[in-house]
Amino acid sequence: MPNISVKRTAFRGRLPRALGVAAPNVIPRSMPESTMVTNKQSGTNVHEVGDGIYRINTPVSIPGGGGFSFNQYLIVDDEPLIFHTGLRKMFPLVREAVGSVLPPQRLRYIAFSHVEADECGSLNEWLAAAPQSIPLCGTVAALVSINDLADRPPRALADDESLSLGKHSVRWFDTPHLPHAWECGFLMEEWTRTLLCGDLFTQGGADNPPVTDSDILGPSEAFRRGMDYFSHTKNAREMLERLASASPTTLACMHGSAWYGDGAKLLRALADALGV
Ligand SMILES: [Fe+2]
Ligand SMILES: [Fe+2]
Repeated sequence: MPNISVKRTAFRGRLPRALGVAAPNVIPRSMPESTMVTNKQSGTNVHEVGDGIYRINTPVSIPGGGGFSFNQYLIVDDEPLIFHTGLRKMFPLVREAVGSVLPPQRLRYIAFSHVEADECGSLNEWLAAAPQSIPLCGTVAALVSINDLADRPPRALADDESLSLGKHSVRWFDTPHLPHAWECGFLMEEWTRTLLCGDLFTQGGADNPPVTDSDILGPSEAFRRGMDYFSHTKNAREMLERLASASPTTLACMHGSAWYGDGAKLLRALADALGV
C-alpha cells in the first residue's frame, strides 16, 4: 500500500451530524501499524486484507447503542471494484479513503449485496465521481430497483456468473433473504478466496481489529440476538452450504473485523446457530 498522509477534512466539526451518528473521536486501539488512517476526525482507515483487496472502515458510535462500524472493500485491478458504497453521507470519507489507494475516477464497478443505505446509498455519487463506472448487482436488484434508482444502467450478474477484473475475478451468488432482502447476494473473489459476505457475521463495536482469526460467530450471534436482522427464510442452510462449497479463506464482513480461516466451517456453524 502506498504511504498515506492524513489529510485535513472539510468535515471537521460537522461530521457526527453529517453521518446521523456520533464519531467516536478515537482511533481504534486495536489498529495495527499497517493500517492507514485516512481521516483523523472520523477515524476512517484502510487496511489490505488480501492481495489487492482493501478494507475501508469507518467507526461510529450510535447514541444509546454503543459502537458500530461500516466497511467497504476495494479490489484493485485492471477494472477496480468497490463492494458496497457506504452511507450516502459517508461518501466524502469513503472517496478520500479510496483516493489513498487509487484515483477514485478509475473505479469500474460499484457493487453491492442488496438495496440499503449502507450498501448503495452513495451509488449515484460514485457514478458521477467515476465516469467509467457502472453499478454491479444481482438480477433481482437490477429489475426491482437499480434500473430505476441508478443514474446509469447496472450490469446484472446471474446466479453463479463470474466477471474478470484482471487477475481477480468475482462470482455472484444469489442469496434471497439471507440475511435479508429479496435481492440479496454476495460476491466471491476467486483469486484470493475472499467472500464479500456483506451483513453475514455482523459484529458490533467500533474498535474491532481490521482482520482477525479469532471467533466472530459468537460476537455476531450476540449482535443478532439484540437486533433480529435475519429473515426467517427456510432456505438459509442450503444457501450457506453453497457459499461454504466455494471454500473461502477470508470473510470480508461489512460490519466489524474481516476474518481469516476455514470459511466453509464457519458458514456451516452459522447455519447451525440459526437452527435451520
Ligand atoms: Fe443489510
Ligand atoms: Fe450492512
